Amino acid sequence: MKSQDIRRQFLDFFESKGHLIVPSAPIVLKDDPTLMFNNSGMAQFKEFFLGNGRPKSKRIADTQKCLRVSGKHNDLEDVGFDTYHHTMFEMLGNWSFGDYFKKDAIHWAWELLTEVYGVPKDILYVTVFEGSKEENVPFDQEAYDIWSALVPEDRILMGNKKDNFWEMGDQGPCGPCSEIHVDLRSPEEKALIPGRDLVNGDHQQVVEIWNNVFMEFNRKADGSLEKLPAQHVDTGMGFERLCMVLQGVQSNYDTDVFTPLIQKIEGLTGTRYHSKAPSAEAEKVNIAIRVVADHVRAVAFAIADGQLPSNTGAGYVIRRILRRAIRYGFTFLNKKEPFIFELVAVLAQQMGDFFPEIKAQEQLVANVIREEETSFLKTLDQGLQLLENLVKDSDGKEISGDKAFELYDTFGFPKDLTALILKEKGMSFSESEFDKAMQVQKTRSRAASEVATDDWTVLIEGNVETFVGYDQLENEVRITRYRKIDSKKDGVLYQLVLDATPFYPEGGGQVGDRGTLSSGDEAIEIIDTRKENNLILHFVRKMPNNLKATFIANVDGALRARTECNHTATHLLHQALRTLLGTHVEQKGSLVAPDYLRFDFSHFAKVTDAQLAEVEAFVNARISDHLALEERRSIPFAQAVSEGAMALFGEKYGDNVRAIRFGTSMELCGGTHVRNTADIWYFKIVSESAVAAGIRRIEAITNDAVRTYFADQERALENIREALKNPQDSLKAVVSLQDENTKLKKQVEQLLKEKARNLKGELATELKTVNGVRFLAKQVDLDPAGAKDLAYELGQLGNDLFLVLATAADDKPMLTVYISKDVATEKNLNAGTIVRELAKHIQGGGGGQPFFATAGGKDVLGIPQALEAAAGFLP
Ligand code: SER
Repeated sequence: MKSQDIRRQFLDFFESKGHLIVPSAPIVLKDDPTLMFNNSGMAQFKEFFLGNGRPKSKRIADTQKCLRVSGKHNDLEDVGFDTYHHTMFEMLGNWSFGDYFKKDAIHWAWELLTEVYGVPKDILYVTVFEGSKEENVPFDQEAYDIWSALVPEDRILMGNKKDNFWEMGDQGPCGPCSEIHVDLRSPEEKALIPGRDLVNGDHQQVVEIWNNVFMEFNRKADGSLEKLPAQHVDTGMGFERLCMVLQGVQSNYDTDVFTPLIQKIEGLTGTRYHSKAPSAEAEKVNIAIRVVADHVRAVAFAIADGQLPSNTGAGYVIRRILRRAIRYGFTFLNKKEPFIFELVAVLAQQMGDFFPEIKAQEQLVANVIREEETSFLKTLDQGLQLLENLVKDSDGKEISGDKAFELYDTFGFPKDLTALILKEKGMSFSESEFDKAMQVQKTRSRAASEVATDDWTVLIEGNVETFVGYDQLENEVRITRYRKIDSKKDGVLYQLVLDATPFYPEGGGQVGDRGTLSSGDEAIEIIDTRKENNLILHFVRKMPNNLKATFIANVDGALRARTECNHTATHLLHQALRTLLGTHVEQKGSLVAPDYLRFDFSHFAKVTDAQLAEVEAFVNARISDHLALEERRSIPFAQAVSEGAMALFGEKYGDNVRAIRFGTSMELCGGTHVRNTADIWYFKIVSESAVAAGIRRIEAITNDAVRTYFADQERALENIREALKNPQDSLKAVVSLQDENTKLKKQVEQLLKEKARNLKGELATELKTVNGVRFLAKQVDLDPAGAKDLAYELGQLGNDLFLVLATAADDKPMLTVYISKDVATEKNLNAGTIVRELAKHIQGGGGGQPFFATAGGKDVLGIPQALEAAAGFLP
């Protein structure tokens, strides 16, 4: 049975049981600060469990792209070592929102597995929650009774809180669960140890395939549980594991989800994957191949959903996953060139029918991955050189754990690679020192990002908040709920939810509104507005005195108006780019703030100055055309798309969407806009740059910011004219200054060369012969380049020289060490080692070849000591 058919059958089965089939949500979450990535099928439905929104249907099923690489559920470090954990996996799930409960969930799971898929009953085990005194949750008798009508009692096992009480994060909906495990071992193995002893025991062939969670509780901030208003079902079946069972293989990597990728990796690296590795060496290769095959999926799908690798947040997690794959390829598959990007085509071919985002963006994803590979391989190279230097400076036995950590921290140079290289030289480093340094850093960054979130205090029950900010900036409101949050970064803040709000919550690139909340004499500042689990949160530093009062919520209109100019300009910019550069241009991210806008988009080359000028002119023409905003607040998604609106990958759209049109540019957008493009006044691009391979960034300003910009430019020009003593033609004056400068530079160079020649003559007489080596250590009045020339000039005098020259041009001490090749080899002198030692006197460092090396430092006063110390190296 092909994996595609297995997926289809799951969805068909639950459709036949009255479930609505929905698409997978994007892998990267946008409006849930508690989760970076979708880590389970239920994440996109969290608001329904919490009662903050209503689902389209009480029964839903889907397959969800999940990533378990951060937070509470993190499998990253296991991946590759076993055959059944993944960074990205598909979770097949069915949900009941306050509809059916344990009985139907369990019966359907059993029916699908044993009757539809035909899994033999005697390889299955099930678990039920044994109860927990500490949580005050009893044994799940109900689930047990339902199961015992279906399976023999010796196949029903008790599970503890760790395995059988599912929680998505530290807070939020949770409940007891019942898992289904499969035992794929041979009859001989089964005869030795019964499967029931291996369930939840990390055995590669006795694995969980399906988890049925019975959501009944909400985990509060203080750790206690409260009953949810309704009972729900959340199930998740590991798609890749199910394929393993149904395709009769022993490992997820032997299913057709992975075999095409693995074959390609074998071809690209000239290695071989074994279902059962015949040796420890082969197993290392196996692990590396699994790491690469697994990680490329996570990275490719994250990029396709709009998350580019970067140095912060979710982007950093993606970068780290990719780097892990690169390094396994580098060390164990001996791949020193980019190759992972070539797997994207296989992935697109194999998964593109069900997940069109990967096919549509195949080229872009491959480009981004290739670029990352190239730059990390360079970093690995630099790390190798640094490690070489550390080894040279060491006692030949050990480098310090702190140094190894520094390599890891600044160069992404992994611990095990350092260990491996050192081992080849018969050396090592202190792992405990390394781990300690790592711990210190982790604690530091965790403390910086930690946020303590209190539970909500609900003042008005059951209100479904409305957003009135498209039409008004002011509204009479009441507070429906509030909570306190405390973070290292921002201190104590409160989040308020209002019954109806004019405040736009950050979203679609547009920043959240600011403004005030006032009642009587009291006015409280709202410093930000954001959305979380379908609630609009207003951030304040201080709670109002009377929480039950009626307030006036007032958006800062000036800020909002500037933001709106930038938002509408962003749409016009998008249109301009697609019209002028081509329809390959797609939005890859945007920021719409009051003071500027930033727009990232796919495009393969730098946008030329001429093109930028055209883009600017295009947008400004639309501004001059006085185009009025046409807004349709709620039209069916399909209709909007058929009328020309573009849906973006990585965005989640409802059945009904808001469509915005200015002239011919139509976009799906929840943001706020000017009434007429004339309000923007003028659009000016201030920068164009690269974000990643194939992704460009334009930053631009509108309206008042442009006025200020022009005024600043004018002033700068005035200042330049003044500095040039107000010539008739400033440009001509600058050009003639430059010409003169070039001429003078040439003269100076000439003079310096002459000086060096004279110096050479002088210094030649100062050489002292010690043990057959002619030696000189001296400070010279040259710049570092001059000192280098001089050293080489002096070097011509013979093959018995050891020279140390110091310079202090611009108050920067520099040392240059030159040793004739014969001296270096015969007397065993190394300029690199010597310069590093001498540089200690000038508080600096450096290195180079055994014959020639330089070092810079901070302390010119140390030069005499450095020169004096040089004699100490004479043979
Ligand atoms: N949320 C549960 C899990 O992820 C079941 O879907 O295992």
